[in-house]
Amino acid sequence: MNLVMVGFMASGKTTVGKRLSRRLGYSFFDTDQFIEAEVGCSVPEIFSIQGEKYFRELESRVADHLHRLVNTVIATGGGLLMTPGNLERLRRAGPLIFLKVHREDLLKRLERDSRRPKVQGGSLEETVTRLMAERLPVYEQSDLIVETKGKSINRVCGEILRNLANLSRQPETEKD
Ligand code: S3P
Repeated sequence: MNLVMVGFMASGKTTVGKRLSRRLGYSFFDTDQFIEAEVGCSVPEIFSIQGEKYFRELESRVADHLHRLVNTVIATGGGLLMTPGNLERLRRAGPLIFLKVHREDLLKRLERDSRRPKVQGGSLEETVTRLMAERLPVYEQSDLIVETKGKSINRVCGEILRNLANLSRQPETEKD
């Protein structure tokens, strides 16, 4: 079984996903890192040189292949789920786990961020409000929602691990 971590940027998908994969003896796969390795440049460089549309196409291509992974914790970029068709693509890979980060924590983490093109320039508060409003309803379609406020990485992992039996009972989707 794979586990697919979804949620807002800086919500801890990579950090929690890596720890979770270690505790389960699973592999770890990060969609942003995969794209960067394939293209040979960073996500901000892809955004500024080829544009966001091109990055989203790359994401969808990667999403299409995720169901081929085995016993892997998959961390996804925060916007991946927003491209039409990707929710279904991710569901084919495994149950979706939404790390729900508190708005204040998010603002604190993103304040000094220079790696995330979606929050550069303009008012961070306004951008976060807008993106949260657009994205929350989609993230909330996940199989498991874990609130992260005030919790250590280990505690978040523990909560996910305790719910694993329920997640693995999700109906299997068609594989090709
Ligand atoms: C994005 C999130 C980033 C990365 C890109 C776009 C977004 O990933 O894919 O900067 O649109 O939310 P993280 O969620 O790992 O920060």
